[in-house]
Amino acid sequence: MAICSPSSMAASGSGFSSKVWIAHGLVLGAAVAAGAYAAFYLRRGGRFRSRVVGIIPARFASTRFEGKPLVEILGKPMIQRTWERAKLATTLDRIEALVAFPFYCFVSVVATDDERIAECCRGFGADVIITSESCRNGTERCNEALQKLDKKYDIVVNIQGDEPLIEPEIIDGVVKALQGAPDAVFSTAVTSLKSEDGTDTNRVKCIVDNHGYAIYFSRGLIPYNKSGKVNPKFPYLLHLGIQSYVSKFLRIYPELPPTPLQLEEDLEQLKVLENGYRMKVIKVDHDAHGVDTPEDVEKIEALMRERNLS
Ligand SMILES: *[C@@H]1O[C@H](CO)[C@@H](O)[C@H](O)[C@H]1NC(C)=O
Ligand SMILES: *[C@@H]1O[C@H](CO)[C@@H](O)[C@H](O)[C@H]1NC(C)=O
Repeated sequence: MAICSPSSMAASGSGFSSKVWIAHGLVLGAAVAAGAYAAFYLRRGGRFRSRVVGIIPARFASTRFEGKPLVEILGKPMIQRTWERAKLATTLDRIEALVAFPFYCFVSVVATDDERIAECCRGFGADVIITSESCRNGTERCNEALQKLDKKYDIVVNIQGDEPLIEPEIIDGVVKALQGAPDAVFSTAVTSLKSEDGTDTNRVKCIVDNHGYAIYFSRGLIPYNKSGKVNPKFPYLLHLGIQSYVSKFLRIYPELPPTPLQLEEDLEQLKVLENGYRMKVIKVDHDAHGVDTPEDVEKIEALMRERNLS
């Protein structure tokens, strides 16, 4: 927990510093309460936020790439590749998952509004949940899928269907981050940003505090060096698409009205921070290979051949 440093106390007037202390007191109070809550769970049997479901939202219609989830990558539909990766995070099946990871049981399902995708997914053995076409984005689709599941889950991992090379360790990582941070409702992952991507507005940058909580996300370069250029020595962070949320939060998340920074940056996740919720961020080693266009398919296939992945 960050406490005012003596220098910042000295610099501020007494009225201001007492407000700061009250604010810290509130934050600290919330953290203590969340900690006590976690401790209560742990005493009861060591299962805090232990029921975890992974959801891969998939839709057929896409402005940039029609039928994207079904596109074949080295002979296998992309959605199948993503699902197979997700399954590895869970070990081999539900029962094994319970044995190997007493801390959580992971189930992965595909949520879609499209019968072609549903059929394909059932074909390779995935659990499919049909969501309504009115879902406006992946988060809403996840939320609807969650409501339709027969069991209750504490945590939902939203696994982007267009990252067929997602490492299972990253999925496990965001889940554990949320289990280990009772005051957070959301967790996500970042990796090192390549210098040449510093000014690419499609690459979302992130800054975090000393405890690994998100401070801000931007399409612009953050932090910004006064030279006006990318500082090749600074460890900039690139945001990866994977997100996990506490189920209770997922229910209210799509309903929270849009916030100014969210609208200005066109970044959903800012809504979480602007409403004062805490978000835990893990740093991972990952080469992002998202598939957004048909050209990306060729790129990823070339890469897989090079690395002997099949
Ligand atoms: C800004 O970037 C330059 C390199 O481009 C670096 O030498 C410098 O330390 C950075 N920070 C500041 C405050 O200038
Ligand atoms: C999903 O779409 C709706 C409507 O555009 C929006 O209100 C909501 O903020 C979006 N994102 C999330 C994360 O719910």
